[in-house]
Amino acid sequence: MTQPIGRRALLGGAGVVALGAAGGWWWVARESSDPAAVTGAALVEPQVHTSTGGLLDVRLVASEEVRALAGSDVRCLGYGASVPGPTLRVAPGDTLRVLLVNDLDEPTNLHVHGLQVSPTGASDDVFVSVAPGQQHQYVYEIGEDHPTGTFWYHAHHHGSVADQVWRGLFGALLVLDPAASARTERVLVVSDVTLAGGAVAGVTRHDRMAGREGALVLVDGQSAPEVVGAPGTVERWRVVNACTSRYLRPLLSTVGAAAVAGAGVVARDGRDLASGLGVGEVVVPPGGRADLLVPVGQEDLVLTTAPVDRGAGTGGTAGGGMGGMMGGMMGGGASDEQPSTLLTLRATGPVAPPSSTSSIDASTTAPPRDLRDVEPDRRRTLMLTSGMGMGQGMGGGMLFGIDGRTFEPGRTDQTVTLGTVEEWTLVNDTTMDHPFHLHVWPMQVLDGGETPLLLDTVDVPAGERVVVRVAFDDFPGRTVYHCHVLDHEDLGMMGTLEALRP
Ligand code: C2O
Ligand code: CU
Repeated sequence: MTQPIGRRALLGGAGVVALGAAGGWWWVARESSDPAAVTGAALVEPQVHTSTGGLLDVRLVASEEVRALAGSDVRCLGYGASVPGPTLRVAPGDTLRVLLVNDLDEPTNLHVHGLQVSPTGASDDVFVSVAPGQQHQYVYEIGEDHPTGTFWYHAHHHGSVADQVWRGLFGALLVLDPAASARTERVLVVSDVTLAGGAVAGVTRHDRMAGREGALVLVDGQSAPEVVGAPGTVERWRVVNACTSRYLRPLLSTVGAAAVAGAGVVARDGRDLASGLGVGEVVVPPGGRADLLVPVGQEDLVLTTAPVDRGAGTGGTAGGGMGGMMGGMMGGGASDEQPSTLLTLRATGPVAPPSSTSSIDASTTAPPRDLRDVEPDRRRTLMLTSGMGMGQGMGGGMLFGIDGRTFEPGRTDQTVTLGTVEEWTLVNDTTMDHPFHLHVWPMQVLDGGETPLLLDTVDVPAGERVVVRVAFDDFPGRTVYHCHVLDHEDLGMMGTLEALRP
């Protein structure tokens, strides 16, 4: 296998036009006038800004401009010259200063996804709104004991989060020790997008309800780019799922479809795993990250992502009607599709001596406290809910919420006490999967297997429940939790939390 067929190939032709005319569903018929994506180009990772002397001070200008996407000139949003924006690299104990300049004609702001930093003041406050033409100075104090790993940043202005991320406002953020790793490391920011007429396509109401997915799946803004690797080396690939709604299931094989011995997932959501997981066992929901260890042999390797059925084909239109029928035809939104190629590695060059380092990098941060052994101070249940709005036309309009309420920034939904451990049961009362993201504090998944699994974005499958424990160790203030299908967040599936000192 692994002759992946892109959606473009699968869906090209009249059938696509018919679907588009009938329902406006998914990625339909929007890209007819656009040049085919350029594939196979050499991967160009975003520029890296690295802290020096304990400080990284950068200016991110959010603007709408023509940039290269999938090998074409595309009018899109971005931070600076490229999509993704620059990779920000800091170390534990550093100060990260970001001056966000809003050159857009709409409000925006910034969130540092997964960082355990204060949600108040000049730090990671997502209630901030930066008006067009204005700027905002963010200052993030990264703790000495902050986990080292792969994080990211993106726009987080409620109501336009999905639109702004879809159009290009995201980038990688690494917290790493300053000593350079001996490995070849690659930052692979995966996003998806649909292009139309030299710009990023708009989406329909149905797309929003289902959670939009793009026709193109890009790595660092490129379509199926290539890298060159040296046989005998082991690389670390930092995969960020910056898609607005798409789940990734990374698969690594030789071009001849053979398994890659020794490959594994060694970190999730910026936290090293005590023991690696097999590539292919891990689904990375939108917002999540997975670090892969990739042993390079004599053969070329290909990283693909397999389709993940998240119930969106039917869930977005629970009232039935055309959308539901479309969902059925599309096999639940994804299951009929082939894997998409993300990246190809060409193994060339002299054979390096076999790497003497163990297959897992030694973690430089202390292992997190295992909350399975802790009696929670408090338990609560949060229900992810959706329901039909009235008078929204054919198919109705889905309202998304938590505990039956849509987001209200002024309302405080949960109050927690700093220094306590809580157990949250996340119940999904809908027909779609929802990736639940809590700002500031990572969640330990209780049935996460042998070793503690700490995630900042936890998938809660349709109709199921997931139990997590959270240590509210630090940082008083108000912040949010929400579905990271960003369309659902914009449609109201978000709540507020206030952490108070005891
Ligand atoms: Cu990556 Cu509140 O989001
Ligand atoms: Cu959702």
